Amino acid sequence: MSAAVGSFTAVVPPPSRRRPVARAARCSAAGGVAAASPILKNLQLKCATPLTVLRHVADAMAADMRAGLAADGASDLKMILSYVDSLPTGNEKGLFYALDLGGTNFRVLRVQLGGKDNRVVESEFEQVSIPQELMSGGTEELFDFIASGLARFVAKEGEKVRLHQGRKREIGFTFSFPVKQTSIDSGILIKWTKGFAVSGTAGKDVVACLNEAMKRQGLDMRVSAFVNDAVGTLAGARYWDDDVMVAVILGTGTNACYIERMDAIPKLQGLTNGSGKTIINTEWGAFSTGLPLTEFDKDMDQESINPGEQIFEKAISGMYLGEIVRRALLKMAEVSALFGDYVPDKLSVPYVLRTPDLCAMHQDDSEDLEAVDLILNDTVGVTRSSREARKIVAEVCDAIVKRGGRLAGAGIVGILQKMEKDSKGLIFGRRTVVAMDGGLYEHYPQYRKYLKEAVTELLGSEASENVIVEHTKDGSGIGAALLAATNSKYSTEV
Ligand code: BGC
Repeated sequence: MSAAVGSFTAVVPPPSRRRPVARAARCSAAGGVAAASPILKNLQLKCATPLTVLRHVADAMAADMRAGLAADGASDLKMILSYVDSLPTGNEKGLFYALDLGGTNFRVLRVQLGGKDNRVVESEFEQVSIPQELMSGGTEELFDFIASGLARFVAKEGEKVRLHQGRKREIGFTFSFPVKQTSIDSGILIKWTKGFAVSGTAGKDVVACLNEAMKRQGLDMRVSAFVNDAVGTLAGARYWDDDVMVAVILGTGTNACYIERMDAIPKLQGLTNGSGKTIINTEWGAFSTGLPLTEFDKDMDQESINPGEQIFEKAISGMYLGEIVRRALLKMAEVSALFGDYVPDKLSVPYVLRTPDLCAMHQDDSEDLEAVDLILNDTVGVTRSSREARKIVAEVCDAIVKRGGRLAGAGIVGILQKMEKDSKGLIFGRRTVVAMDGGLYEHYPQYRKYLKEAVTELLGSEASENVIVEHTKDGSGIGAALLAATNSKYSTEV
């Protein structure tokens, strides 16, 4: 239930990186709406994801995974060890907390685990939105804000929550950014993503930042598990279903993790653990090989706060789809009379068109595309649009979303292929569940459809029947609390 995945809205980059807003310009281009058609055709061509492209992406994903497992820094994919060596069994008991920081909100969750028969007896959560200025402010300010939210949540508990004497409250901390884990309860932030640009955190132990902030708040809690949201999702989904092998996040950002054998990780140089298995956080958002990108992707990347990074994420995740479409529409409006002879001011505002807007336009099956008209008017200030223009807008949305969904599907197949190759028959020969979390997947039916179609095209209908892509709502929060229980300092037999 990462905040990052609960929605798929854009985090607007800090003002310093925003492009100046263009003034309404009279369009000199002749040719009416039709002059936008060649741009649309070219976009569709550049975004196309025929089977050959999907296959290439899936194979490259598998190859990059292997390279990242062989040595740190050898691949776009960091293949980060999660230090999650044992998954929840269902026997976990007691009171645990989860703290979830990943996007525009953070969430605090309290869960009472009742063991095999009772499972999740009770859970309660609170969500707080993070002020925009904290996303590009200083580390202390951000963590003080989070710790004070946590303190308020705990202060409200009153008598109904009873803690065992002498025990601290234990937290599973889900942090949805790339971290180099140093143990199950510590890890160093590699970099911020998804529009966050908090100064001074990269290179620091994130748990230590939280601990210091909790201390300043006089809050005596202990982080027992520190995990990525994909890892939390896998743990949460596995609690209910033993066939879960992979977890994918498709929300504001994107990521995937999976269960790997310790002896298939050369960079561990023979090191092993009790179970012989661990969860690997791929950080697949950084993947970049063989992607069909357009001039709009490249410009968006260049003007982002992290140019050259997270290229897969920028092509497939919720934060960026609306922005790519906006850029394509802006170009069309500039060279044709797509929206009459003016380019609306608002169409030049970065990130003004959000993925939920795309989704609403994409659903519009009315004769005159009235929803498209309404959204164009409300969000980008198009006062009048012809049916022909609206149709073009809907087709631009479709081209970008189709590419995103199909590439995400190819990424999933890449992971499954890698796993299958290492353990013949253990993936495609039986039911294998891919646990999915994130607002983009949850709320965008066409995206879901395109993703599933790509999986079926790549695997063929027989093998793909065994691959179940299952949405697990709020999985990463409960998952983190479960991992806090699994890694509890105390006996969880209450
Ligand atoms: C981060 C990942 C995270 C994903 C989904 C990406 O931007 O790098 O760590 O899992 O977003 O929230």
